[in-house]
Amino acid sequence: MKNTYIPITMEVEKNYFETSDRMIKTLRLKFLDERFDFEPGQFCEFSILGKGEAPFGIASSPFDKAGLEFSINRAGVVTKAIHELRIGEKVGIRGPLGNYYPVKEMEGYNVVVIGGGFAFTTLRSLIEYMLNPERRGKYKSIKVIYGARNPGLLLYKDLLENWEKRDDIGTYFTIDTKVEGWNKMVGFVPTITEEVAPSPENCYAIVCGPPIMIKFTLPVLLKLGFPKDKIVTSLERRMKCGIGKCGRCNLGEFYVCNDGPVFNFEQLEKLPKEV
Ligand SMILES: Cc1cc2nc3c(=O)[nH]c(=O)nc-3n(C[C@H](O)[C@H](O)[C@H](O)COP(=O)(O)OP(=O)(O)OC[C@H]3O[C@@H](n4cnc5c(N)ncnc54)[C@H](O)[C@@H]3O)c2cc1C
Ligand code: FES
Repeated sequence: MKNTYIPITMEVEKNYFETSDRMIKTLRLKFLDERFDFEPGQFCEFSILGKGEAPFGIASSPFDKAGLEFSINRAGVVTKAIHELRIGEKVGIRGPLGNYYPVKEMEGYNVVVIGGGFAFTTLRSLIEYMLNPERRGKYKSIKVIYGARNPGLLLYKDLLENWEKRDDIGTYFTIDTKVEGWNKMVGFVPTITEEVAPSPENCYAIVCGPPIMIKFTLPVLLKLGFPKDKIVTSLERRMKCGIGKCGRCNLGEFYVCNDGPVFNFEQLEKLPKEV
């Protein structure tokens, strides 16, 4: 069995700013000698020699077999080093880690994906997975509600445009306050969710975003009638090993790295209040 502490080597193939504030970069890494498959919602530990290691959700589609994409916010030591990487440089990747969105259980269901800000990374992976011709027939309607503070902070703008043109996915993109040239929705994600009012009938809600967005979106979904076990989210927690050994990510009865990062709200309700 492969040693889960040893990263595989990958090469930076693309590297570009994703948002207008230049705080988020998307990196495409190419597999070299070793490779792995993954499911939507899983993450990797990304390491740079001499700098350290940090966890990031995989943003690309599991059907994209040649590499992996990550969208990374510059926060501290490791993320600054990642932003400074150049094309052709080598990095270490341990993964895939953690559980994933319940893509098998969701088969035959409608799905509403609700995202905010740069937490949209693994939701992109999930949506691209569900839209793949091999998978699209497995799901009924797919709706995407996605918001950011302003248009420049929305991730994956080209992809969002492509989704808007398709007739097999409903898109509701929003920004917090009106700006000139923006002709889509305006308002916070919880308010827009209430406006769109997705039916809870035979439907999963997959929610990912800043804690404040999740805090106010959950009551809306409950009011609309979504059962707690059909509301799913992904937790970000400080991590070290990423494989359930060090205890760094412990939360109640769970290790977020191993038992999560994906949980439904029935599970989260049993956890200590800090979630
Ligand atoms: C499962 C998972 C998936 C993630 N996916 C992404 C992703 O797709 N894109 C992305 O940009 N980030 C993601 N993160 C967060 C990312 O791991 C942290 O931003 C990163 O570890 C910061 O490393 P650093 O060395 O640059 O910062 P540090 O120098 O360690 O810290 C800089 C600042 O960031 C804070 N910080 C560090 N880690 C976290 C954390 N996990 N939560 C809250 N605050 C933190 C510190 O308190 C400090 O204030 C994810 C985290 C987890 C656990
Ligand atoms: S990060 Fe080590 S147990 Fe989860």
